[in-house]
Amino acid sequence: MSEIRDDDKIFFDGEHISIPTENIEEKLDEVQEILMIYSSAIKEIKTKLDILDFEFKTRRKRNPIEYMKSRVKSPKSILEKLKRMGFNVNIKSARENLNDIAGVRVVCSFVSDIYELADMLKGQDDIKLIQEKDYIKNPKPNGYRSLHLVLEIPIYFSDHVEYVKVEVQIRTIAMDFWASLEHKLYYKKGEITPKHIREDLKECADVIAATDLKMQEIQKEVEKL
Ligand code: GTP
Ligand code: MG
Repeated sequence: MSEIRDDDKIFFDGEHISIPTENIEEKLDEVQEILMIYSSAIKEIKTKLDILDFEFKTRRKRNPIEYMKSRVKSPKSILEKLKRMGFNVNIKSARENLNDIAGVRVVCSFVSDIYELADMLKGQDDIKLIQEKDYIKNPKPNGYRSLHLVLEIPIYFSDHVEYVKVEVQIRTIAMDFWASLEHKLYYKKGEITPKHIREDLKECADVIAATDLKMQEIQKEVEKL
């Protein structure tokens, strides 16, 4: 397999990463620095969401957030994605071209909670909305549903500010249940999925979406009691 040589002199052939030994410490420091920056951005977003959840709980006596998960994309996945998308393979290129180095998944109780939380986040002065994809109003052909936001937030370090992008996926427990299982079964595995299986999965997604709406109606009624 042919090697890609990037500006930073890191070699990557799709499977193996080799860094020239003469500047390995410098490169590792740089990777550590990036991980630190993106982890800090995740902390910041999670704190904002925790505060919104706390406020909501205090005022309306229920939590809109069931749980959150987060991750910083591994260096291997970053390299693979840059290569797959035809971008230069270096840290600068990753920061510019990838929106999902930092990812937060927010799992809510009801569909309306998703939009309320998203609006609250988008309304904060220090948050800039870079991209929004509403796979709830427009589900993917396979049935996938979630609201995806790419947000940019400032992170204040000792001597400078970094503007960092975080991908926030907001979904209900039901949507998360479907996506987790579908991911385990097929997503990005490269398998050619038989048509009847795709149809069955899609049908499950639609049943789940109908149940989500029903639960939402019940919740609205209960709130009025
Ligand atoms: P990626 O290259 O995967 O990041 O896709 P993208 O840049 O086109 O963004 P998109 O908003 O479509 O998807 C981003 C993320 O959403 C993925 O990395 C998954 O976490 C999730 N996702 C998107 N589509 C699916 C799907 O069909 N099934 C599951 N399980 N997850 C999905
Ligand atoms: Mg992704």
